Amino acid sequence: MEKINIALDGHSSCGKSTIAKALAKKLNYVYVDSGAMYRSITLYALEKGLIDKTGINLKKLIGDLDEIHISFKIINGTQHTFLNDKDVEFDIRTQRISENVSQVAKIPEVRVHLVKQQQFLGRSKGVVMDGRDIGTVVFPNAEVKFFVTANVDVRAQRRYEEMIANQHNHITFEEIKQNLEERDFVDSHRETSPLLKAEDAILIDTSDLSPEDQLNFVYSKVIEKINK
Ligand code: DC
Repeated sequence: MEKINIALDGHSSCGKSTIAKALAKKLNYVYVDSGAMYRSITLYALEKGLIDKTGINLKKLIGDLDEIHISFKIINGTQHTFLNDKDVEFDIRTQRISENVSQVAKIPEVRVHLVKQQQFLGRSKGVVMDGRDIGTVVFPNAEVKFFVTANVDVRAQRRYEEMIANQHNHITFEEIKQNLEERDFVDSHRETSPLLKAEDAILIDTSDLSPEDQLNFVYSKVIEKINK
């Protein structure tokens, strides 16, 4: 079967990554979590003391970009993100990272650097990538694009359950909801590649859809496209 690239963009915690992972598995494609790449750079900046209350040390962070190597490996069937050869899968999912990542993702040099890597990962096709600018900037020619959203309370509840299930316990539902709203705002209003629905993206509202229904829907759209 001909291989294509599939872009999934949308709001924070709307279920994009769950759909993207399941779709990649079903198609035997590679899944790329572009948000994990922005989270990894944020972790690097925090660990190096490049972020404080007054802001980000842009000069140093931009100067260090070529030394920040991000990769993915499958461990026991689950994809893990590596930052300079260290497994950071747990560390990049903390609330501290969620609170700082939008500021880092706003930096044009960071975006240019990561977009290049993301385009390289998709060069041979057969990739499902999720993020905020995949259908608009990273793969504007992706054969199938989805834009995923859901009501903010549903998203906050799902994220809350996910955080608790993954041992990130020191967080309340309200804090999560507030962070989602703030990230949506910053992600949608930044100057460089804001979160936008590509004109040709298929809209999915996952508020009332089970994970199975979401997968069946996106899979049917992909198969329709491949068979065209
Ligand atoms: O998908 P996520 O919540 O893990 O993404 C973390 C942050 O990274 C999100 O708030 C916005 C940013 N991001 C981005 O700007 N562009 C992408 N392609 C992916 C994520």
